[in-house]
Amino acid sequence: MLKLLQRLVASERWMRALGALSPSLRLWHPDVRRDPYPTYRRFREQGLTRLRLFGGWMAARYADVERILREPAFSTDREDVALMKVIHRATRGAPDFQALVENNLLMIDGARHRRLRGLVAKAFTPRRVEAIRPRAQVLADELLDRVERRGEMDVVADLAQPLPTIVIAELLGVPSTDQERFRTWSDALVELLDPLSGREGIEPPRRATAELAAYLRELLAERRRAPRDDLLSAMIAAEDENESLAEGELIALASLLLAAGNETTTSLIGNAVVLLLRHPEERRRLQGDLGLLPGAIEECLRVEPPVQLTDRAVVEPVDLAGVRLERGTIVGALLAAANRDPERFTDAERFDVGRTENHHLSFGLGNHFCLGASLARLEAQAALGALLRRYPDFHGPVEPPGWKPSIVLRGPIALPVRLH
Ligand code: HEM
Repeated sequence: MLKLLQRLVASERWMRALGALSPSLRLWHPDVRRDPYPTYRRFREQGLTRLRLFGGWMAARYADVERILREPAFSTDREDVALMKVIHRATRGAPDFQALVENNLLMIDGARHRRLRGLVAKAFTPRRVEAIRPRAQVLADELLDRVERRGEMDVVADLAQPLPTIVIAELLGVPSTDQERFRTWSDALVELLDPLSGREGIEPPRRATAELAAYLRELLAERRRAPRDDLLSAMIAAEDENESLAEGELIALASLLLAAGNETTTSLIGNAVVLLLRHPEERRRLQGDLGLLPGAIEECLRVEPPVQLTDRAVVEPVDLAGVRLERGTIVGALLAAANRDPERFTDAERFDVGRTENHHLSFGLGNHFCLGASLARLEAQAALGALLRRYPDFHGPVEPPGWKPSIVLRGPIALPVRLH
């Protein structure tokens, strides 16, 4: 069933035909994937849009999306939602994959979520993240050293993909000799964020999860014997009211950090480069004053969010934008549309690297606010800072060769540029 849905979504011909019939499917239309923003504007103008196919609704205005992310009537616990049932069925007989779904912070809520998130946060502290900044800068420079002689690079494959994987592997304490394998597993786990983005059903993520879990089990045993100054040792040591993380929870949470952080940060770096290529004036402004870089990255996050959309299940009847939503209804929250809401942002469609008031929703809001936001920001600063300093004249086509086919995750699949 899942494989069938994935293949359907992957077929350009089918999505073109079906997209003409229903607003839910229109989101997958290839032209909409290239530029989803006119469609998002229509969603915003409609208030809530009915997505009959999924039996749910889509919110696109800032005020509505904000409520969905903050209010307890909307929950990440989607037990009653049809697609979750498909996923649960598919995970039967695969205990590691099941554990990953059951301990995924993005799929649980309430006291269990508070406990697990609290324990991870004790290990994944701002100090630990900040301490990796100089190393991220060195890594970004090393990756750019490798392309120097070629005179050209694919920003995605040569910089944006490897950087976050190496950084999170080093943070966790994975030896460099194992990092290539780690990256393969990480790529397969992305389907946890967008189950329809795969092509081959549940099998590849299931296999990757089992291999990664076996690997982490061994590494955890080593760290229990001889703790080091790394994130995995800190997660083992994290305690709350004398309670610590169980083995299965540790494996699931370490895998989640890998799954949630890599593809998204890769997209942030890729999207930022696309935006700079498209807006030469803003690029000149930024290159004239690299002190604008942190704010410019926030603006890239606002204008081209790597996570375009999230969703919640309604757990108690609630009124939203004049519509009564009953328990069990699924509601999409279009972060990318909310970020361009003219009711919230002045000149909302404009890409402005000097924008100061910028409360975008690209890292979410409330209890599930992105745990890795500062790490992602730091990596993007390292990558873009190095690129702009070393190759101030880099240039390439303003439209990348293709965008990810997903409706959840937005980023270029490749981004060839010439360095001089
Ligand atoms: C630019 C890069 C990133 C973007 C755009 C992003 C976006 C998001 C968003 C929108 C959410 C909330 C989803 C929801 O409420 O439904 C989230 C949650 C999360 N993110 Fe990120 N993320 C990024 C990078 C990272 C990194 C680097 C890590 C860790 C290494 C990470 C770990 C997480 C985790 C664990 C959660 C779940 C938090 C919870 O449910 O309590 N993310 N992220």
